[in-house]
Amino acid sequence: MSPSSSGTSALAPQNVALFGPPGSGKSAVGKLLAQQLQRPFLDMDARIEELAGKPIPEIFAADGEPAFRKMETELCRQLAGESGRVISCGGGALVDPKNREVMEASGWVIFLDCPQEVLLRRTQKADDRPLLSGDKEAQLLALLEKRREVYASFPNRVDASGDDPRRIAQEALALLKTLGSATLRVEAPPPAYDVILGTALLQSVDTLLSDRGLNPPFVVVSDSNVAPLYAESVCHALDAGLVEIPAGEEHKTLDTIRTLYDRFLKIGIERRATVVALGGGVIGDMTGFAAATFMRGVRWVNLPTTLLAMVDASIGGKVGVDLPQGKNLVGAFHPPSVVISDSATLDTLPEKELRNGMAELFKAALIADPLLFEWLERGNGPATQRWIERALAVKIDIVNVDPFERDVRAKLNLGHTVAHGLEAASEYALSHGEAVAIGLVAEARMAEALGVAQKGLAVRIEAVLTRLGLPTRFQKLTVPEVRAAMSSDKKKVGGQLRFVLPVEPGLAEIRQTVPEELILQTLEDVKESA
Ligand SMILES: NC(=O)c1ccc[n+]([C@@H]2O[C@H](COP(=O)([O-])OP(=O)(O)OC[C@H]3O[C@@H](n4cnc5c(N)ncnc54)[C@H](O)[C@@H]3O)[C@@H](O)[C@H]2O)c1
Ligand SMILES: [Zn+2]
Repeated sequence: MSPSSSGTSALAPQNVALFGPPGSGKSAVGKLLAQQLQRPFLDMDARIEELAGKPIPEIFAADGEPAFRKMETELCRQLAGESGRVISCGGGALVDPKNREVMEASGWVIFLDCPQEVLLRRTQKADDRPLLSGDKEAQLLALLEKRREVYASFPNRVDASGDDPRRIAQEALALLKTLGSATLRVEAPPPAYDVILGTALLQSVDTLLSDRGLNPPFVVVSDSNVAPLYAESVCHALDAGLVEIPAGEEHKTLDTIRTLYDRFLKIGIERRATVVALGGGVIGDMTGFAAATFMRGVRWVNLPTTLLAMVDASIGGKVGVDLPQGKNLVGAFHPPSVVISDSATLDTLPEKELRNGMAELFKAALIADPLLFEWLERGNGPATQRWIERALAVKIDIVNVDPFERDVRAKLNLGHTVAHGLEAASEYALSHGEAVAIGLVAEARMAEALGVAQKGLAVRIEAVLTRLGLPTRFQKLTVPEVRAAMSSDKKKVGGQLRFVLPVEPGLAEIRQTVPEELILQTLEDVKESA
């Protein structure tokens, strides 16, 4: 359950960097903060000494300050490419705007604020600070004066004047909680509701709900994978009973809905109760549908625990179940009262499920967020929670304008016309995310062939998907099988397949028709040659 600390995971937690003048306590506070967050700690100055094989005063004496600053810049870049660390930065490290930019992009920078007299007292004894050799007091004052503006410009600050580093670490932790969370508003379909995104939010779920006028009685619905991980604490905080159902899309049925009704009746749920969905998109869709229909509708809240549910399924108010004849054939619009996405739950999500979510997150970038596309393409942008936030914003902006899919909401189906064919033809052996990935490549190729998309877009898309560990070709199926399955897609309009085609990163357009020969040729092109 420990968070991944390597930079290789698609979903890396952000870095936390502590910065401040000499004597502000970055190392002591950083160590404590790292313990509390259960993250690895790194002291930049210590690492530079290790790399150089000599203490910092000697680096200054032998090689000069520029050599030291160069090492600092290289280390900043390297650390920004990794993730999940608590870093104590050297007192001058983030004075260079480029170093600051990379560190801020890789996570949160917290400035330790300390009055001059305290800094003077704390640095009096130290003899390991080359910039404070000689008359320490005069040197420090000059240094503070020189860096005054830069130091003042860091927005996230903690009072570090006290002598107990544990208290300062506590304050930093409290600040991190507020920094790490964002609240977005879904306006449509009404009633409007908040989507709160952050880490460790489940720990304060009771307050988040009561702040919004949501009070007991609650009942929690979860699945057999998620319940053992998170239900106990959520049920305890909400003083709620738990209804656990078996995990998996195969259980997204009317039979399970009947089980939910039975359990709700047994628990004695009344109309003023609130149902809490705790799980991925399957749990959200089913719990929301049960809430929409039980006693003609009760309130519900959604606590999504998969990346796909966070960036996609939890937004837009659609709830429902599958029929043997097809997916999501029965449903309703029944928006939750609030969505609370705790990104810490993604630490336990299997890699395959993370990748499924990444396909939708990337789709959002392709539809409407060129900057997110760029981050994913470069692979070294800000850490994941900001990716999630931006992808969320794309979906929210679209459903706010067109809640009932009369026009622009259809853009969210980018890649999906082909994907639905691939999923169905493979009898769901291909996961949704894998099928969407291949679908995005296929539809980008069609767009290029039609002159709708920039040349080279499909290759760029393929490169990102490959980096994310997603497939870009299908195997084992024949083109006629896939093509036939595409035709049974319920989203076709008037018997015709409708495509959404990418134009450039951050722009897509809805297209009613694509010539049949081009569809077949493209499917041939994205079929893995045996
Ligand atoms: N309502 C909408 O607008 C909308 C949009 C897109 C998708 N959906 C629906 O969403 C469903 C897919 O959602 P999904 O991909 O989240 O699938 P899911 O709910 O089946 O979750 C995937 C797997 O991960 C497990 N899991 C969930 N959270 C976990 C965690 N934190 N740690 C460990 N394991 C965890 C689940 O038990 C399951 O085995 C489909 O039914 C789809 O139709 C709905
Ligand atoms: Zn999808």
